[in-house]
Amino acid sequence: MLDKNRYLDEKVLKMVNDYIQENQDPETPVTHFLPPEELSQRLNLNLPEEGCSLEDLYSTIAEYLQYSVRTGHRQFLNQLWSGYSLPGLLGDLFTSLTNTSMYTYEVAPVATLMEKALIRKMGGIAGFKDPEGLFLTGGSNGNLQAMMIARNHALPEIKQRGFLPSQPLTAFVSEESHYSFDKAGNILGIGTGNVKKIRTDAEGRMLPEELVTSISESRDLGELPFFVGATAGTTVKGAYDPLEEISAIAREFNLWFHVDGSWGGTALFSSRHRVLLKGLEAADSFIWNAHKLMGLPLISSVFLVREKGHLFRTNSVKGTDYIFHDEAFGAHDIGPRSLQCGRRVDALKLWLSWQFFGEKEYAERVERFFAFAAYAEQIIKDTPRLELMAPRTSFNVCFRYIPHGVDDIDAFNLKLREELSRSGKSFVNFARLGQAVTIRLVIAHLEHTQKDVETFFENLLKTAEELDS
Ligand SMILES: Cc1ncc(COP(=O)(O)O)c(C=O)c1O
Repeated sequence: MLDKNRYLDEKVLKMVNDYIQENQDPETPVTHFLPPEELSQRLNLNLPEEGCSLEDLYSTIAEYLQYSVRTGHRQFLNQLWSGYSLPGLLGDLFTSLTNTSMYTYEVAPVATLMEKALIRKMGGIAGFKDPEGLFLTGGSNGNLQAMMIARNHALPEIKQRGFLPSQPLTAFVSEESHYSFDKAGNILGIGTGNVKKIRTDAEGRMLPEELVTSISESRDLGELPFFVGATAGTTVKGAYDPLEEISAIAREFNLWFHVDGSWGGTALFSSRHRVLLKGLEAADSFIWNAHKLMGLPLISSVFLVREKGHLFRTNSVKGTDYIFHDEAFGAHDIGPRSLQCGRRVDALKLWLSWQFFGEKEYAERVERFFAFAAYAEQIIKDTPRLELMAPRTSFNVCFRYIPHGVDDIDAFNLKLREELSRSGKSFVNFARLGQAVTIRLVIAHLEHTQKDVETFFENLLKTAEELDS
């Protein structure tokens, strides 16, 4: 029985290829959305005593595919990632097939060397001369890891002795930064209230003079400022904080300077747009998600540190000699430098993708995404009923529809976004800027074309007009 069911058969290949092909068809809905109660009734959510046949397993997979959102569809514009990548899929497939863990060179020899080569390469692109780093489980954990290194750097005794709470530690990020900085403040015992939010300009960029004021006030209160986190590509507006100025302030006040490039780090590939990250080379650490703009399946997230040694000092503990053996090429083990024990190979899919597309394609992709965002902005400006909600500085386009006879514009736009996304025609997200609801359009699919941008606005305007009649 086991022998028979061991191999991928033609049915599986067909299921995969049909799915990929259907994603290409504009008539395929992005989602078959059902509310949770209704979906629970459609699915078989029982866990059986006895195993099932391979045929039944395929039916379960078919059901999974039918009700899952097609994030590889070109009208999936909802998240800061979308699309489908063949080398990415192959990377995930062969990662699972070889199923190893990144802790030691001995069990992951090829993946360890690939990961280290990617760290060197991407660190070099960031402007770090001799970087260290590792892949971790996303941008949120990159921000956590950065804040943890900074905390232990500021108070080296904390690693062993725990908190010495006489003086609160304070961290500084912009009001537009990702919520994961607050999560990090919570986990690390800093306190979310001590992760200070610095005001931004209209574009969503941190105001350096406000940063100086806030750090000075914190010092005057007897607190210990230790960390500043700038963002290269904010989640809603796509803004890039002025890294050079923030870096100079961090240096002046002796703070760890981290850059969250989870979303916008990929702009580094473009000789035209990398100016947005000018000053990054002086950062102490940097997080860069390859699973966003580089188009890989989740998760592929690269954490970089400018100077070697911090990861080991911060993350290593005793009692690991059952796994890390100096006798067995221990110096090459990444595990002691990681917060995780078992760690999935996330490097292979990036490695394969880089081989397949090459760096030039990444640069061109960034240029394309910028051009499509600019095109979307122009459509909004040219359409009387559409209004830009924030200046567009990179990939994100924030806008809303102004209805004819409806007073509550926010409620209308919420309804519009919901109707459009649930219809399966175009799946897009919303956010709030202050109190106002904004639709946030993100164009980040490898295969996006100008036509896809037009289709999105056609679908949106049609739905809006129906609601507004
Ligand atoms: C600026 C920024 N930082 C961090 C994150 C979190 O990244 P992840 O989802 O990989 O944890 C996001 C997610 O969208 C983000 O936009």
